[in-house]
Amino acid sequence: MQQSKPRVFSGIQPTGNIHLGNYLGAVKNWVDSQDSYENIFCVVNSHAITIPQDPKILHQKTYDLCAMLLACGINPQKSTLFIQSTIQEHTSLAWLLTCITPMGDLSRMTQFKDKSQKNPKNIFAGLFNYPNLMSADILLYKSNFVPVGEDQKQHIELARDTAMRFNRDFGETFVVPEPLILKEGARIMGLDDPSKKMSKSSSDKPNHSIALIDAPEVIVKKFKKATTDSEGIIAFDKKRAGVYNLLNIYQCFTKESQEAIEAEFFGLGYGKLKERVAEVVVEGLRPIRESYEKLINQKDYLHKILEEGEKCAREIATATYKEAKEKMGLV
Ligand code: AMP
Ligand code: TRP
Repeated sequence: MQQSKPRVFSGIQPTGNIHLGNYLGAVKNWVDSQDSYENIFCVVNSHAITIPQDPKILHQKTYDLCAMLLACGINPQKSTLFIQSTIQEHTSLAWLLTCITPMGDLSRMTQFKDKSQKNPKNIFAGLFNYPNLMSADILLYKSNFVPVGEDQKQHIELARDTAMRFNRDFGETFVVPEPLILKEGARIMGLDDPSKKMSKSSSDKPNHSIALIDAPEVIVKKFKKATTDSEGIIAFDKKRAGVYNLLNIYQCFTKESQEAIEAEFFGLGYGKLKERVAEVVVEGLRPIRESYEKLINQKDYLHKILEEGEKCAREIATATYKEAKEKMGLV
């Protein structure tokens, strides 16, 4: 494939419900910058099984998430969209990378520490090795940039180290990728507890996250219950995490400057702030939800896009894997 623009690769897991943090930290940026890059986006279902999943639900959620990404504005004319497990080179390359990654590097990964602490009885080797699969996803496509939320920065640093190590030991093969992390939206916090990032694994808590498929009245209700503080001043002050998070969400949708937003809310109370934030979120998500409801019933269309995406991704993936495998001396 002829590559004229820098290449972007990113992935999202088909677990839980895609939420406002995923959208503002990752997917919205993928959509907004589609014209500037050659884009490859992947629903990373093989990552999802590093934590035990119900097979039927995982299967369904994989397709639901593909439909949701299209609803969010991923344009198949401009971007390749495919499902990770349909291209076996991801797991094959992950094995090669596993063989050159020190255990010490993997045990420093904060996501591994967090996830294994949350579920100490169910820690499998796949969870430990997960960053190598992520490195394989990125390196397989010789990606220049990886747009993600703040929580993935450490994994991308590992992918960079791995690419450099491979290139040094076996000859120039991989592009050393760079993370693309936008300031606003990079870390959206839980509405119930703004000291913790909004996450799919806490979505059982009713007021923790906003799902992209939440109905308007549900969104309004959740923002009303959002945790703030007792100071009563509306300002971008990181020390007051609840109010900061609400303002940050507001800014992601309105694109206004912090000064303009603070001026707009000057003298108003938290009730008004929550109402206005809910309003911009409801309006911002409305077209996504409506489009999702249509797409979810267009199974043939969805499968056609995924098949085309797979074909396009496979062409690059097989070539890179062959190159890496041969350089390591595998027959
Ligand atoms: P995941 O749901 O773990 O597959 O994450 C998909 C993308 O969403 C990744 O780029 C994450 O960095 C990003 N992301 C997840 N949670 C948040 C959050 N609370 N704030 C910002 N970005 C997030
Ligand atoms: N690990 C990422 C997450 O949990 C998802 C992911 C898998 C990814 N492979 C990737 C993101 C490659 C960017 C590039 O959010």
